[in-house]
Amino acid sequence: MGCGSATPQKIIINDQLGQRVDTNDEWIQSRTGIGERRIIGESESLVDLATDAALNAVKMANWDVNTIDLIILATSTPEDLFGSAPKIQSNLEASGAVAFDLTAACSGFLFALVTASQYLASGSMKRAVVIGADQLSKWVDWDDRTTCVLFGDGAGAVAIETTGAQNDLIGYDLKTDGKRGGCLNLSQSNVFLDLVEEAKYQKGEFLPIKMEGKEVYKFAVKEVPIILGKLLDKYQIDSESIDWLLLHQANQRILDAVASRFSIPSRKVLSNLKHYGNTSAATIPLMLDEAVRDQRIKSGDLIACSGFGAGLSWGAALFYWHGPY
Ligand code: COA
Repeated sequence: MGCGSATPQKIIINDQLGQRVDTNDEWIQSRTGIGERRIIGESESLVDLATDAALNAVKMANWDVNTIDLIILATSTPEDLFGSAPKIQSNLEASGAVAFDLTAACSGFLFALVTASQYLASGSMKRAVVIGADQLSKWVDWDDRTTCVLFGDGAGAVAIETTGAQNDLIGYDLKTDGKRGGCLNLSQSNVFLDLVEEAKYQKGEFLPIKMEGKEVYKFAVKEVPIILGKLLDKYQIDSESIDWLLLHQANQRILDAVASRFSIPSRKVLSNLKHYGNTSAATIPLMLDEAVRDQRIKSGDLIACSGFGAGLSWGAALFYWHGPY
């Protein structure tokens, strides 16, 4: 019924990263399609961005905040490990909504969208706000040129409800392969400190993002076409009927490779990587919001969506957009 997004003010262009690590605009653009990214600054916060994104979605849907039943925040970078969604619920003054975080890295938004849809499909809830928001800038090793050029911060959200009419979520599939999880991690450190003479305690801290880029690339270009292809077959949808291919924005080469597997022309492939880089759980709703507000996506359009990332985790969903415009 609505979508929204919010991004940090500070833009860092590729050549600026060249001040910090041995890289340049030509390398980054040609390997990834990324031209710049936005980074949360001192006067901003992840919760504020997520709140703004959610508010924009609720406004587009024209909802009274008191009618929201559920808020799911997909994030791997909460401000509070006990959960940041309750703070967003409080900011929205949505006191009737239950709110919790969900972590599935770059697949997080898709996993959260499907999770929320189950509450709606069961009839136990009517209205949900699903947010994808991440601040990977605080966990990137800014001295590692193989990862730091890829990521940025941002937030996006959708407002979904049951209408009793046609189900706009045609179908979905979600996957996890923990055995391959080692190629993309944001793991806790293994530091134990003395507590008392007889015992140590583990200090709570995380190590920067560690990634085997080539492995992750191969995983994405192999698994996304498989999961999307099976979904299209299951619901007997021809790839020509897809109005928009909405993929997690990780790398333009991944978007192009998946599109070419289904012969989807580039005009139907949504991409805003150039301006934001990989904002993890935020990429899909951030892209959706941009394309809805500039009226590329119109009510009734069929969207083929796929998210993928750490876990390893991946998923796909086919849905119709039915917003107010
Ligand atoms: N600037 C300049 N050179 C760089 C660089 C940078 N930022 N990062 C790496 N290089 C160098 C490498 O050191 C290597 O040099 P060498 O040949 O002298 O060893 C060369 O560029 C090629 O590196 P390689 O890793 O083979 O590049 P690639 O074509 O595989 O592209 C990625 C690297 C990370 C862009 C690509 O693997 C990728 O996009 N993977 C998926 C990552 C991803 O999307 N992760 C998130 C998923 S949710």
